Amino acid sequence: MIKTRLKSENCGELNLSNINQEVNLSGWVSTVRDLGGIIFVELRDRSGFFQLVADPQVNKNIHDVFSKLKNEYVINVKGKVTRRPEETYNEKYPTGQVEMYPEFVEILSEAKTLPFVLDDENVSEDVRLKYRYLDIRREKMLSNLVLRHKIVTAARNYMNNLDFLEVETPILIKTTPEGARDYLVPSRVQEGKFYALPQSPQIFKQLLMVGGIERYYQIAKCFRDEDLRADRQPEFTQIDIEMSFVEQQDVIKVVEGLIVDTFKAAGVEVKPPFIQMPWQEAMDRYGSDKPDTRFGLELFDIGDIIMQSEFQIVKNTLENGGIVRGIRIPGGAQYSRKDIDDITKLAVSFGAKALANIIYNEDGTAKSPVLKFVTEEQAKQIQERAGAQAGDIIFFVADKPKLVYDIMGRLRLHFGKTLNLIDESKHNLLWVVDFPMFEWSEEEGRFMAMHHPFTSPCLEDLDKLDSGDLGNVKSIAYDIVYNGTELGGGSVRIHSSEVQKKIFKALGLTEEEAVEKFGFMVNALQYGTPPHAGLAIGLDRLVALLARTDSIRDVIAFPKNSGAKDLMSDAPGEASLQQLRELHLKSTAHQHK
Ligand code: AMO
Ligand code: AMP
Repeated sequence: MIKTRLKSENCGELNLSNINQEVNLSGWVSTVRDLGGIIFVELRDRSGFFQLVADPQVNKNIHDVFSKLKNEYVINVKGKVTRRPEETYNEKYPTGQVEMYPEFVEILSEAKTLPFVLDDENVSEDVRLKYRYLDIRREKMLSNLVLRHKIVTAARNYMNNLDFLEVETPILIKTTPEGARDYLVPSRVQEGKFYALPQSPQIFKQLLMVGGIERYYQIAKCFRDEDLRADRQPEFTQIDIEMSFVEQQDVIKVVEGLIVDTFKAAGVEVKPPFIQMPWQEAMDRYGSDKPDTRFGLELFDIGDIIMQSEFQIVKNTLENGGIVRGIRIPGGAQYSRKDIDDITKLAVSFGAKALANIIYNEDGTAKSPVLKFVTEEQAKQIQERAGAQAGDIIFFVADKPKLVYDIMGRLRLHFGKTLNLIDESKHNLLWVVDFPMFEWSEEEGRFMAMHHPFTSPCLEDLDKLDSGDLGNVKSIAYDIVYNGTELGGGSVRIHSSEVQKKIFKALGLTEEEAVEKFGFMVNALQYGTPPHAGLAIGLDRLVALLARTDSIRDVIAFPKNSGAKDLMSDAPGEASLQQLRELHLKSTAHQHK
């Protein structure tokens, strides 16, 4: 405790051991209750609450000041800690057995009536974000920020003990390709030129490896201009790691230790090694590269059975590179027509063109709109494949692989939630490994890097890179997944400039473009680059999950809303014409006014 003129003790730490001690307290008036002359004030500071009492019979002057107090006034009091009468002990607070009749009180600051009642759970998030500085006074927000601090401290201690060096990397940079849009900052001195804000420190941490740092970490701010969701912010924080002379399993081991220590800081015990699941297996069993393994409902493949049937539309889909995957819902034979319609509509909203179903009745018969295309025998085979019992229903979708996985993965999560199958007490951590190197983008009409273009392809797939068989190139990349959320991702990096050039080419960059964008990076690789690998954990997501909140906004002191706006300061704001002129910019928004 730092003792100052205004404070010798923390409110929340006083107890029977402090009886008769003279203390000097400052804080906020949390509540004022006037019980027929005697006034009780709950004084709050960061550490907790402490009860003050003013009795006009004891001290008239103090009582006079207390009668002026309102919620959220900031006051300073001095006096002796006393024991409360036993029948008034309050077990809810650690300080519930003690109180003070102050001998001195001073109002340090008055407060207007707050725009919302602090502990009212029904206040809209917009209002709370507008007055975030008040929202932070709430116990929930405070405890989230405390938890965040504990987790960061645990992470730093762990990395420091392993000889990692924390190095800051720049914020005004060229561009890092992590797949989102860049935030641009116009340069005043270099007319017509722009900095980008880093989507991650990726390039710089690799250059630190070229520089011989060997073990780097940083609690790093990242900026991505993408569509926001509850688990995404335009600026967020990573625990960013890079190591030299290591392979995939070395990074995995270091990160598992980091997970153990950060989880422990939140009071959660987990035991490595965590399962390592190949990407293809995750997609086939869960329809997701971040599978929630806290419940079953695993998907199954009935493609071979359908191919024997007369189910022509689905057969056509399969013959054209499509797949079919099903899910079994125990007891689902009871679904009404409307239930099935609603589930079908949900699948359609996920992008399905159709959702087929087969009901396996209690009496051993099957009922389905697709029975006109599949024989009774085939329906039995499907039942066996699904592991379906009498009384179950199965659903299946045929389409392009990516779409089928996505639809079925989301349906699975829907059933997991609505059927209450998720065991919330579980802490399932797993690695997804063996990712494809590239992913076809329908939007862009070209292959994109699934992680980022500095990820090393599997060495045995290098010839596929040369022959253009990009869809089958695997990468040495890995993601850490916690209860169905991607906590972090990383990879072994390319440390050969030749391979790096090949990847840029495969991604459709011309040699000139590659030189223009990443020439310095390719150059650096030519001056003695150690094999290196790393990973980044999303700190906000980690804290949110451990704080058991759905939104990362709840664990960020001053977050943006879903429109990427700061409702408190009203950022982003307009720039004056003068500012724009200095930056050599013309705003179309200004012209339209
Ligand atoms: P990646 O892009 O997978 O990898 O990011 C790592 C982790 O950062 C978190 N994250 C986010 N959190 C909040 N808001 C966002 N908009 C957001 N975007 C990502 C996620 C994610 O798992 N440079 C690589 C890491 C590496 O290869 O070492 C990278 O940034 O939890
Ligand atoms: P239809 O001949 O259009 O009535 O379709 C017959 C059945 O096939 C319906 O139950 C559809 O749900 C199902 N079906 C059609 N296309 C697909 C598909 N791509 N995936 C799954 N089921 C399908």
